[in-house]
Amino acid sequence: MFLSIVCQKGGVGKSTLSVNIADIYSKKGKKALLIDLDPQGNSTTYLHNKEKSTFDSLDLLENKKKIDIDQIPEVRENLYLIPSNQEVKRIISSKLVAGSILRKRRDGEEFKGFDIVIIDTPPSMSSVVSEAICVSDYYLIPTRAEFLSVEGVGQAIKYAKESVRNRKEANPIFLGVVLNSVDKRRTSFKSFYSELKLILGDKLFESAISQLTEIAEAPFFGRTLSEHNANGKAHKEVVLLVEEIDRKMKEYI
Ligand SMILES: Nc1ncnc2c1ncn2[C@@H]1O[C@H](COP(=O)(O)OP(=O)(O)OP(=O)(O)O)[C@@H](O)[C@H]1O
Ligand SMILES: [Mg+2]
Repeated sequence: MFLSIVCQKGGVGKSTLSVNIADIYSKKGKKALLIDLDPQGNSTTYLHNKEKSTFDSLDLLENKKKIDIDQIPEVRENLYLIPSNQEVKRIISSKLVAGSILRKRRDGEEFKGFDIVIIDTPPSMSSVVSEAICVSDYYLIPTRAEFLSVEGVGQAIKYAKESVRNRKEANPIFLGVVLNSVDKRRTSFKSFYSELKLILGDKLFESAISQLTEIAEAPFFGRTLSEHNANGKAHKEVVLLVEEIDRKMKEYI
């Protein structure tokens, strides 16, 4: 199963969610692969990958070497990382790839050692993001609960649809929008949520992630939320989100 986390808007929580969703699946005993397609490399830094990887996101997108699970660092038990490479910036601006390289690798069974693949993407509408969407079974869009951010959601959905147009082999399902960094106690949040629900219906996740200091500080310690504070609110909220992701996926089987 392949899940991409996408949104062209920056700072909405793509990397935070990618890392922690992948971490939760790996702790459930799934062999999870996290692919960091963002040249900024936030997920890579977050997981504090000291091992020098011989296979990174540029290798992945250039399609010269086959994926060899032995060359992909296992950064936590059951959690593997294809780290970011800054040179992916070139690909973002040059449109070198357009949705077929990762798909071909997948069809060639190069990912078969993994149960779940999570893809963190850059904040852009670029061929790299199309690559992620076209290889995925599902994608989700995180956003902040602000009017202008939500406008970005519409653009992200449109971009995802355009990415797979004319590609019979790619048929990713939009799982929904996840509101991140919210204050659930505020009336303004509650009314924002119900208004958005009217527009998005079941494409709005019931689980929202609160604005929490532990989410902002965990990366400084190089710790996932489960490692930082397994009993904390942040970890519990992301566990609930993963449960909802699983439920939604089952609906589409
Ligand atoms: N729920 C939250 N509570 C507090 N801080 C958060 C929360 N979610 C994300 N952050 C913080 O906000 C910042 C942006 O989050 P993150 O890097 O995950 O976003 P992003 O969408 O991946 O950004 P970019 O588009 O630049 O890749 C980070 O410093 C992160 O720690
Ligand atoms: Mg990011």
